[in-house]
Amino acid sequence: MNNRQPIGIFDSGLGGISVLKELRLLLPHEHFIYYGDSAHAPYGIKEKAEITARCIEICDYLIDQGVKAIVIACNTATSACVNLLRKRYSLPIIGMEPALKVAAEQGEHQRIIVTATPLTLKEQKFARLMERFQDAHTIYRQPCPRLVEIVEHDQLDNRELVIAQLNEYLYPYDLSQIDSIVLGCTHFVFFKDYFRELLPSNVHIIDGNHGTAMHLMDLLRQRDVLCEEGEGSIRIENSSGDQELIRLSKKLLGGK
Ligand code: DGL
Repeated sequence: MNNRQPIGIFDSGLGGISVLKELRLLLPHEHFIYYGDSAHAPYGIKEKAEITARCIEICDYLIDQGVKAIVIACNTATSACVNLLRKRYSLPIIGMEPALKVAAEQGEHQRIIVTATPLTLKEQKFARLMERFQDAHTIYRQPCPRLVEIVEHDQLDNRELVIAQLNEYLYPYDLSQIDSIVLGCTHFVFFKDYFRELLPSNVHIIDGNHGTAMHLMDLLRQRDVLCEEGEGSIRIENSSGDQELIRLSKKLLGGK
């Protein structure tokens, strides 16, 4: 393994681009290969076995490309099979989970809404995370599967649609009684500004992207494969073969 090898990142589609944005900022000299599995998105309403089979195929492909580490930029895929992937492959695999811990650290008796996909919220991995915090805090689980479709269909700029959808998801809550909302799906991070508009200003909006990037940096440093000089690069691929999705991925990533 050497420091010039690329880092593989994947997601069910374009959500992981929000993670890649953070990675690029923190690790500007690294070479990234981003693989969006839009042909099989969304993962969040699929069976675990189907998601696992996709993840194995994608990891095999990324390893063939010579990656030195893999970031699963998807909470759903992580819930479905991170342990299995770590057993199967010897390279470092970084997973993601809803940043409930960060929300709980904001103070005592926090009232927290965790948004994620249906699969993330029903898996054992999240149940274990809940167990750690549910006695001390009040935690609400809110699945938001339609937000994934809005990103995949390039509808993020459709303000009316987005606000109506978010209002529908937030409707059950008395927002004046909420301390934090956790964006537990990488697609949801693209809605941060919209959430900010709809939530009282004291509500923290928390995602795990920065933490994931820091974790990757530490891991690469520990293994002595962190790339600290030269110009970095990003290659974006998508299982759909649709050039429009590559264009949309670059739009979401923003200028360099
Ligand atoms: N972006 C993914 C996540 O972080 C999953 C979205 C989906 O395909 O349902 O959970």
